[in-house]
Amino acid sequence: MFQLKFLIVCFAFTKLSFAYQEYLSHGPEQVHISYGAGPSQMYVTWLTHEQPSGPPVVEYGIQSGKYELKKHGNMTKFTTAYSRYIYRVALEDLKPNTTYYYRCGFEQELSNEFNFRTRPQDQENWSPRIAVYGDMGLVNGQSFPFLKQQVSKNAYDAIFHVGDIAYDMHSGNGLYGDLFMREIEPIAANVAYQVVVGNHENDGYNFTDYDGRFTMIDENSGKMNNMFYSFNIGPAHVIGFSSEFYYYTEYGVSQIHNQFEWLEQDLIEANKPENRAKHPWIITMAHRPMYCSTADDDDCTENESILRKGIPIVNAYGLEDLFYKYGVDIIFGAHEHTYERLFPVYNRKVYNGSNNDAYDRPKAPVHVLVGSAGCARKN
Ligand SMILES: *[C@@H]1O[C@H](CO)[C@@H](O)[C@H](O)[C@H]1NC(C)=O
Ligand SMILES: *[C@@H]1O[C@H](CO)[C@@H](O)[C@H](O)[C@H]1NC(C)=O
Ligand SMILES: *[C@@H]1O[C@H](CO)[C@@H](O)[C@H](O)[C@H]1NC(C)=O
Ligand SMILES: *[C@@H]1O[C@H](CO)[C@@H](O)[C@H](O)[C@H]1NC(C)=O
Ligand SMILES: *[C@@H]1O[C@H](CO)[C@@H](O)[C@H](O)[C@H]1NC(C)=O
Ligand SMILES: [Fe+2]
Repeated sequence: MFQLKFLIVCFAFTKLSFAYQEYLSHGPEQVHISYGAGPSQMYVTWLTHEQPSGPPVVEYGIQSGKYELKKHGNMTKFTTAYSRYIYRVALEDLKPNTTYYYRCGFEQELSNEFNFRTRPQDQENWSPRIAVYGDMGLVNGQSFPFLKQQVSKNAYDAIFHVGDIAYDMHSGNGLYGDLFMREIEPIAANVAYQVVVGNHENDGYNFTDYDGRFTMIDENSGKMNNMFYSFNIGPAHVIGFSSEFYYYTEYGVSQIHNQFEWLEQDLIEANKPENRAKHPWIITMAHRPMYCSTADDDDCTENESILRKGIPIVNAYGLEDLFYKYGVDIIFGAHEHTYERLFPVYNRKVYNGSNNDAYDRPKAPVHVLVGSAGCARKN
């Protein structure tokens, strides 16, 4: 097993990194969108390998081919093995529940047209259709064709990718990330693509490749934070956070503390009666699960998994108590390459709901594992 894994990875790496220069391009590419602060805002993000040929711009409007509006944005450069230029533009004052058509790039060099639909104003009366998965690789990304087909049929309002993106984005000097983001462009440029960080995003540079490429906006503060943030979609308040802070402590244990404090504040806010009335569902997503039945010695197979019970011995920053206390409904995890849905559970005990239905007003969160989108290797 180890040898097979080794061979696949080495082969692919050698083949792609050899041809690195061939894959570089001039124009805007890897276009993707994500939610901004509320239904009136949407972020467009794209990349170039070379310096921009002008100020980054998104041209957009409510009719295909007619771009009556224009918005400029920012450029940032991120550097791991190579430098890449990332452009982020916040489209603002968008009408709710409206389809917008857009293209992006630079005055002389614009992308193809894409479109997206904004969230409705009265979110509580809307049942969004969301695809949720983790662990999708460039190699063996088995869900690509299905996702492309579904998005072309307008089947989704949003997609949540629960960590482990491309396997690995930084492989081949970031070429895997580039090729993956090109591959998902027809999906992620038309539907909000919301992500959290996974263990495969650890690039040895403090998740620079992941943080460089995405634009996750915390709806309450309006600020970008790719590691932890929250947003509302229909009747749900969704919280994305980093499970990796608990495992890659070399980047700073204070991150566990900061995130924990933020999580509690966000949950307090979400539980204010006026907020919980509008968004009665509270959903979390992070790459690693608290529970799993896969017998592969991962942390979730342990009775006292770190995410669930916190840092060993001191038992600090465990998330199960926190999520139970604030009435979280669904906890999405991935990492194990399976689909599993648990009965409502707290502290290893099942707390079924009412009317002989485990899921009818359950008394504990429901854990759902979605690591089955297709990847080249284990975990
Ligand atoms: C661009 O940068 C300015 C100044 O740093 C900041 O206020 C603004 O939010 C940024 N916009 C985007 C779209 O990132
Ligand atoms: C959004 O707009 C569509 C058609 O334009 C309409 O059918 C639907 O009811 C609207 N949804 C909400 C939640 O306002
Ligand atoms: C890693 O990045 C985070 C921001 O995402 C920062 O707060 C932290 O200090 C960084 N750690 C190191 C060791 O550079
Ligand atoms: C884990 O908990 C179960 C159920 O409480 C118990 O049967 C099992 O022995 C425990 N395993 C370890 C390694 O503590
Ligand atoms: C919870 O409900 C499921 C499905 O109805 C049932 O199989 C299970 O035994 C129940 N567990 C408990 C502890 O009541
Ligand atoms: Fe993983």
